[in-house]
Amino acid sequence: MIDLLLGLQWGDEGKGKIVDVLTTNYDIIARFQGGPNAGHTLIFDGNKHVLHTIPSGIFHKTAINIVGNGVVIDPVIFKKELDNLAKYNLDFKTKLLISRKAHVILPTHRILDAASESMKGKAKIGSTLKGIGPTYMDKTGRNGFRIGDFELDNWKEKYNSLAQKHLKMIDFYDVDIEFDLKELENEFFEAVKVLKNLTFIDSEEYLNQAISNGKTILAEGAQGSLLDIDFGTYPFVTSSNTTAAGACTGLGVAPNKIGEVYGIFKAYTTRVGSGPFPTELFDEDGAKMAKVGNEFGATTGRPRRCGWLDLIALKYAVQINGVTQLMMMKGDVLSGFDTLKVCTTYNYKGKVIDYLPYNIEEKNVSVNYTEIKGWKEDLTGMTKIDELPENLNNYIAYIEKFVGIPVTIVSVGPDRKQTITK
Ligand code: GDP
Ligand code: IMO
Ligand code: MG
Repeated sequence: MIDLLLGLQWGDEGKGKIVDVLTTNYDIIARFQGGPNAGHTLIFDGNKHVLHTIPSGIFHKTAINIVGNGVVIDPVIFKKELDNLAKYNLDFKTKLLISRKAHVILPTHRILDAASESMKGKAKIGSTLKGIGPTYMDKTGRNGFRIGDFELDNWKEKYNSLAQKHLKMIDFYDVDIEFDLKELENEFFEAVKVLKNLTFIDSEEYLNQAISNGKTILAEGAQGSLLDIDFGTYPFVTSSNTTAAGACTGLGVAPNKIGEVYGIFKAYTTRVGSGPFPTELFDEDGAKMAKVGNEFGATTGRPRRCGWLDLIALKYAVQINGVTQLMMMKGDVLSGFDTLKVCTTYNYKGKVIDYLPYNIEEKNVSVNYTEIKGWKEDLTGMTKIDELPENLNNYIAYIEKFVGIPVTIVSVGPDRKQTITK
C-alpha cells in the first residue's frame, strides 16, 4: 500500500516537517509532482534544512527516496541541494533514485517563465520563476526533455533543438529580459554531470514491485490543493495536479493501492504569490500571524499573506483528496488571541453558500465567520495530548466536526520533536 501526504491549502502547510517525522514508519518516500518551486523545511538537532526537489525522507538512512515521474527537475537546483547535504555523508547512489520519466527544467524554461510573468503585468501569477509552467507546457505539448534522455548519445542535440525553439518563443514576448545564456548553460551542463552520477530508474516499475513485496511507501505532495491546476484558484495556481490523483499519475500507482491520505493544514491560512484569498487579513491580527509564524516563503523569501482558517476551502480540499486523517500545524502561532475566527459560509451572488464556488475573487465572494474562544498558553514545550489547553481542543473539535475527519497530529513548533500524536 501507499499512503499520501498532501497540503490542503495554498502550500507551506508544513509537509516537509511531517514527512520527516513519519519517515521512521516507511521504507520509501516518493515525491510525485511539482519541482523546485517547493520549499520544504525540516528542523532537527538545532539545524534547519530546506529541500526543493529531494524528498523529505532523505535524512533517515533507512529510507529510499524517489523523485517520481510527475516531478520536474532543475539539475542546477538539484546539484545545490546535494551540495547542501554533503556534510551528512548520505548514500545518494542507493538512497536517492530518480525517475527516467521525470521532465527536466532547462535554463530557457526559467527565462520563459520570467518573460511570461513580465508580460502579464498586474495580472501576474506571482510564480516562483523556477520554470515550472513552461516545463509542464512542454510535457503536455509533447516536446519535453526527460531525465531518461540524458542516457542517449545525442542528448545535447535534443537539448539544443528545444533551447533554440525556446529562444524564438522568448523573442515573441515583447519584454526586456536580460540573460547570459552561455553562463546559464555552463552551469546547467556542470550540474547535469553531477545528476548523471545518480541512479535513474523506471520508478513506476520499482514502486509497483515494492508494493507487491509489502514495502511501505509514503508519497510526498508539494504545493497545496488550492494551487492544483484543475481544482485550485485558476489561473493563480501551479501547473501540476497537487491533489491525490496527482500521486497516481505522478508515480504510476493505481488508486486501489492507496491507503491513508494525510491532509495537512495550518491552524490559520497563508498564501504566497497572487490570487484570491477570501479570509485574508490586512489588520493587526494578520500581522501577528505573519510575525509569530515567521511567514516568509522557503523558496523565494517573499512575505506570505495571512488570514483566518477557511473551513469551506478546507472541506473542499478534504473531499477532492479523500483525506482520511488531518494534521494541524502551527497551532502555537495562534496562542494569545482572545477570539479566533473560522470561515463557515460564503456570501456568493446574493446567497449564503457552504461550498467553494467557481470563482472566489473578492468581487464575488465575502466570508462569514464563526468565533471560537482562543487560548493563552504557550504550546511550544508541550509533548503530550493531555497538556493541550481546553480551548485548543475545542478549536480542533470544531474543525473535525465541520469537515468530518479526525485530526491525528497536532504540531506545536517547527522542530521534529514538537509534534503531538492524538
Ligand atoms: P511545506 O512547504 O509544506 O513543507 O512548508 P514550509 O517549510 O514551506 O513552511 C512551513 C514553515 O512553518 C517552516 O518554516 C516550518 O519550519 C514551520 N513550521 C512547521 N510546523 C510548524 C509548527 O507547528 N509551528 C511553527 N511555529 N512552525 C512550524
Ligand atoms: P510548497 O511545496 C506555496 C505558488 C507561487 C505562485 C503559484 C505559481 O513549499 O508548499 P509556480 O512557481 O508554480 O509557477 O507558482 O504557486 N507556489 C507555492 N506557494 N508553497 C509552494 O510549494 C508553492 N509552489 C508554488 O507562489 O503563487
Ligand atoms: Mg514550502
